[in-house]
Amino acid sequence: MSGPRHFLDLADLSRDELVHLLGRARRLKEGREEAGRALEGTTLALIFRKSSTRTRVSFEVGIHQLGGRGIFLSDRDTQLGRGEPIPDTARVLSGYVDAIMIRTHAHDEAEELARWSAVPVINGLTDRCHPCQLLADLLTLEEEFGGEEPGAGLEGLKVAWVGDGNNVANSWLNACSLLGFQLSLAVPEGHDPDPEFLARARATGGVELVRDPREAVEGAHVVTTDVWASMGEEDEAEARREHFEPFRVTADLMTFARPRAIFLHCLPAHRGEEVTARVIDGPASRVYRQAENRLHAQKALLLELLT
Ligand code: CP
Ligand code: NVA
Repeated sequence: MSGPRHFLDLADLSRDELVHLLGRARRLKEGREEAGRALEGTTLALIFRKSSTRTRVSFEVGIHQLGGRGIFLSDRDTQLGRGEPIPDTARVLSGYVDAIMIRTHAHDEAEELARWSAVPVINGLTDRCHPCQLLADLLTLEEEFGGEEPGAGLEGLKVAWVGDGNNVANSWLNACSLLGFQLSLAVPEGHDPDPEFLARARATGGVELVRDPREAVEGAHVVTTDVWASMGEEDEAEARREHFEPFRVTADLMTFARPRAIFLHCLPAHRGEEVTARVIDGPASRVYRQAENRLHAQKALLLELLT
């Protein structure tokens, strides 16, 4: 008997499924597909064991626009926060709701939740990856560089990741494996992405890992970065600041990219750390479009998982 369809990692989708989902997200955004109240009566539980602005609001608004409702569950006011086991939480919630989104620290927790859940589980960020973020980022690339056919036009792109080899970088590696664009990562020594994600992407041939941000950014269509210390790494923030200094995305670094290159950041951002205000608030920046795209991409995801 097959269980529910989960979305824990971008690699849970085939290339065709990803391209289809991005196409649907774009049609929904542009009003070329009417979803109406396709998820009328549907409930999505939203478990947040870490803070969030975009993920929470885009999922809550997304399910609401589709006729369903979201229930926000934080550690502060659930029994999960007091140590109730994940398998119990999964089985209890499965009796009430139609899908569960979880944002947590250890990726194993999301996997355990999925193992015990009778309804689809969506990864809203773990220490390992952030697949929902990449749906929005890829939708943004589709809008900026895509052709008539969804998925077409992205193969020839060069994306430069500058900074920490973190959860978002890992998901960029998945995206590069699935869609075949070139991904060049400039990461400080000791902060490489997860070897498993790297190996998978290397097998498809489109990835390089370098230590010089200029080398990564050279000729790039897209330059992207993220915070130097992710949630849960606050204790390391001070020590990382000095080590990551050469990995700041500055206007000078952007001159190595293509003349019309765009800048992306999943947000929240620290101006003056991983990116200067001149870049993130400048003409190359697409960060607010990228953030808005969380809504459209996740509506498409919810429709795919729940209808
Ligand atoms: N990019 C992102 O996931 O933002 P939040 O932490 O605000 O959800
Ligand atoms: N890498 C960041 C992303 C936040 C959306 C973190 O995990 O905190």
